[in-house]
Amino acid sequence: MHLGRTTLSKFLIQQLKGIEGASDLAALLIDVAAATKTISSMTAKGALGGYLGEVGNTNVQGESQKKLDVLADDAMIRSCEWGGLVAGMASEELDEPYAIPDEFQRGNYLLVFDPLDGSSNTDVNVSVGTIFSVLRHDKAEAPVTADYLQTGRKQVAAGYAIYGPATMLVLTVGKGTHGFTLDREIGNYILTHPNLAIPEDTNEFAINTSNARFWESPVHRYVTECQAGRAGERGRDFNMRWIASMVAEVHRILMRGGVFMYPKDTKDSAKPGRLRLMYEANPISFLIEQAGGLSTTGRKYLLDVVPEGLHQRIPVILGSRNEVARIERYHLEHDAGTDRPFESPLFNERSLFRPEARV
Ligand code: F6P
Ligand code: MN
Repeated sequence: MHLGRTTLSKFLIQQLKGIEGASDLAALLIDVAAATKTISSMTAKGALGGYLGEVGNTNVQGESQKKLDVLADDAMIRSCEWGGLVAGMASEELDEPYAIPDEFQRGNYLLVFDPLDGSSNTDVNVSVGTIFSVLRHDKAEAPVTADYLQTGRKQVAAGYAIYGPATMLVLTVGKGTHGFTLDREIGNYILTHPNLAIPEDTNEFAINTSNARFWESPVHRYVTECQAGRAGERGRDFNMRWIASMVAEVHRILMRGGVFMYPKDTKDSAKPGRLRLMYEANPISFLIEQAGGLSTTGRKYLLDVVPEGLHQRIPVILGSRNEVARIERYHLEHDAGTDRPFESPLFNERSLFRPEARV
């Protein structure tokens, strides 16, 4: 039974045939996959594993670390440091890049990752994931931070594991986006979703509307039009979702289309967005583009952004091509002053928030 199924190793050997450095890249992706199996097993144990709750520290992002954040980070490092495949690693949980210990050889790849995306969801048993990005490092010297700051276009591989009802690994090496499902009985990832293609149109959007008062007007314009549904500009009804795990939102979009936005906002002037460029936005954007979708800051393709820092934040708007192109157009029209004046319904003519309406 199950003979002839495409395992992750078989798939990688086939996809990377004839590409320089392919066997090292395949071996690295297998090491990453091994780490995700460990993380999957820990998240699946829930309270029984004793892994839930906080460590009592904050990371470089100022976010309080969960026990699972730290364990997932360790799982990735231990699984990938020893094999002579990576020159260095960088993680959401570490202020500085991780230097490969002297006892191990260094390879030609840099691995950048978010070990447990959406980790606020672990304690409530909602899907979380691991996101990773692979870059080249063709120097003999150990990498310094500047070596990691390559544009997303330079990624040679990217992917995520999602720990949901099923654990899946979704990855790209620049030849389409492909999904694998973990067969727990035999411990292998099996190709179940080859050549994922995001529908160009969608009726579904995802955004944290509690931030509405901090949004820029193009985002207000888009969301208000969606909310107006059939009666408004768009002439059709839209549906909204918000899981607060980017991996899970992106997975839904890869499966059935949609738009995900964590746009620029004015909530905190030090943070021009919520998501991190190097280990969230870039790898996810690579997967989205390889599946036929678009990913933008609102003003620029995400993969073309020149990174300035390892933990840099960036606005993200991604998913179904036609909707993302429309939202980008709204930004460009806004910047050029050619959009029609847009006012949030909270502050418009009939609003209770109008100062004169409150007297
Ligand atoms: O890693 C950042 C992240 O947890 C994403 O996975 C998720 O989309 C977002 O933050 C959730 O943000 P908020 O808490 O504002 O809903
Ligand atoms: Mn994250």
